[in-house]
Amino acid sequence: MGDKKNWVSAADRPELEGNLQYHIRCKPGDIADIVLLPGDPERVPKMSETWDEFKEVGRNREHVTHTGKIRGIDISACSTGAGGGSTASAMEGLATIGAKTFIRVGTTSGIQPHIKPGDLIISSGAVRYDGTSENYVSLNYPAVADYEVVASLVEACERLGYTYHVGITATAASFFCGQNRDGFGGYRQSWFQSRYEDLRAANVVNYEMEAATVLILSSLFKLKAGAIFAVIGNRVTNEFAYGGIEKSIAAATEAAIILKGWEKLKKENNKQ
Ligand code: URA
Repeated sequence: MGDKKNWVSAADRPELEGNLQYHIRCKPGDIADIVLLPGDPERVPKMSETWDEFKEVGRNREHVTHTGKIRGIDISACSTGAGGGSTASAMEGLATIGAKTFIRVGTTSGIQPHIKPGDLIISSGAVRYDGTSENYVSLNYPAVADYEVVASLVEACERLGYTYHVGITATAASFFCGQNRDGFGGYRQSWFQSRYEDLRAANVVNYEMEAATVLILSSLFKLKAGAIFAVIGNRVTNEFAYGGIEKSIAAATEAAIILKGWEKLKKENNKQ
């Protein structure tokens, strides 16, 4: 393995020569301070192809990272893979090399009847069934989105004329049993249904697999984060229609531009 001779660190924080991060294989200077986080590596080029310019700065396992520019701002996208574990690894690496703001851009199913495939959901917070964030902090600690990131996503959807909902997301550690779907061969536990009904009664709007991890780690690291989703299904009506990904990408990119504008305004007015 060529990598082996380049190890410069110990097992407690593995890095390669030049601070190259173990999971994402990016180093300081490779990424912008705003990073879009899709789960799917194939969604990274879908994002970067909408920018004015970009280059690939990392590719390892499920993590593909592109950095570029759009309308005068620097921007990156790094795929997290599915679920909290690989998301946390990516964020650890990204935070270490300078990421300041994360916007998760994903797909989801609504669990309230009024949420239609093709709509967008912006998370205000997340229920922590992700299985990863509890390795960082007690489950009593809330997974909340940064208010400026939420506001920028709302403003972006308004500018672009998209239908969106703002609400609390449920992050599950599993697409199937963790989201009240049967496992293989009809495998079920009684709590699959009761957890789903309890989430619905608590006005939770959607199921997905990474937001709670992203929001918790960002709060713990003193960074900012939010999440936006393309609705591809509805669990109440049992509709499924894959689409709307381009809208979530456009809204997240517009939000990044808005956030950079607000940052400039705050600097000019000596506000934090
Ligand atoms: N992603 C999920 O985690 N669940 C869905 O139902 C759709 C997308």
